[in-house]
Amino acid sequence: MPESPCSSTSPKTRLTQISAHIAPMSTTSFQADTVPQAPEDPLFGLMAAFRKDTFENKIDLGIGAYRDNNAKPWVLPVVKKADEILRNDPELNHEYLPIAGLPSFTSASQTLILGADSPAIKEKRVTSLQTISGTGAVHLGALFLSKFYHPNTERSVYLSNPTWVNHHQILSNVHLPAQTYPYFSAKTKGLDFEGMIGAIENAPEGSIILLHACAHNPTGVDPTQEQWKEISKVMQAKKHFPFFDCAYQGFASGDLNKDAWAVRYFVDEGFELCIAQSYAKNFGLYGERAGCFHFVTGSSSDAEFTISRIASQLAILQRSEISNPPAYGARIVSTVLNDPVLFAEWEANLRTMSGRIIDMRKTLRAKLEEMGTPGTWNHITDQIGMFSFTGLTEKQVWKIREDAHVYMTKNGRISMAGLNTHNINTFAQAIDKVVRETY
Ligand code: LMR
Repeated sequence: MPESPCSSTSPKTRLTQISAHIAPMSTTSFQADTVPQAPEDPLFGLMAAFRKDTFENKIDLGIGAYRDNNAKPWVLPVVKKADEILRNDPELNHEYLPIAGLPSFTSASQTLILGADSPAIKEKRVTSLQTISGTGAVHLGALFLSKFYHPNTERSVYLSNPTWVNHHQILSNVHLPAQTYPYFSAKTKGLDFEGMIGAIENAPEGSIILLHACAHNPTGVDPTQEQWKEISKVMQAKKHFPFFDCAYQGFASGDLNKDAWAVRYFVDEGFELCIAQSYAKNFGLYGERAGCFHFVTGSSSDAEFTISRIASQLAILQRSEISNPPAYGARIVSTVLNDPVLFAEWEANLRTMSGRIIDMRKTLRAKLEEMGTPGTWNHITDQIGMFSFTGLTEKQVWKIREDAHVYMTKNGRISMAGLNTHNINTFAQAIDKVVRETY
């Protein structure tokens, strides 16, 4: 049988041939072809590039997610136990949570961040909503402030320079203008305290100041308690509004109370403030998206009424955006936080993670110093938490990726959790080589 003229043409080619004869016509006034290409997310883009790399001994120091000494994700033993309890609960169902989330989760989250004896909790000056992890909490807070926060002067949110890249996007999505305050000193690889305090002092009265509660992302540099007191003093004088992002409680020092010190100090100082809390890192619940947003009002006779009005508005925002939050991650967290035995086990798991990271910091610094790698390396152990801001330049970062298949963000941030006893030598040698070549 003779071949039909079309039989060798794939459906796709046929479609192209047909559509070539039809003038493109938009059925709406939306010019879809004018939508510009957005840049790839720097962190998730890096993760994708790492996955694509087929080199056997590649090293992932990109995204901030804990890895064990074999570079594998670690499900916290206490999370496994809570998971078991939940799965065996005959009462477990998949009904909607309330708009504000699981009450046993939000109340335990308040206690965790503010402390069991917090006057703000006792005086019912706090409202809390379960969110889609810390990102959702930052977003909900920013959205709320964009609608209801109207200081007399120009309204901006001041972000540390640098900060977690997503902060900028979240603010721009809710049309809150962002400014920055200096934070990292390239010279000392520590805190530029003078620069920070000066910028906060010069910001228009009533500005929103976004602060990392502990384990600053990306630098790993935190103010000391004395510096926090200074920051609080200046912010009080300027009537600034603090917005704490707390993604690493217990993960930074291994001590939950120590890591919450700054937030609690500001609350005790009488600030009205909000807090975005994430359980991604400290529970290893990255994909479960368990987080919480807290708004704390100052102490006043009608604080309870104020907070209930704020809660009502937050509930409307939440309902219109996500309706109600996902249940499973919050149930795991709630099971642990509300059981003293499991809570103690969680604290031990936190010490395992923070302890391994601290060991990696010590080892990396020691190796660089042993090799006499040009420069100073004390910042590796001075910095705290998941990340270290190595001081490597973008050029050096690319070179290390090319030579040793090490993946880190282009600003020289490394996730310390990606280092382990098997790969730390290779990494230290790669730094040594690139620094000598480009010093
Ligand atoms: C990071 O900074 O790597 C993490 O907080 C992950 C993320 O969502 O960006």
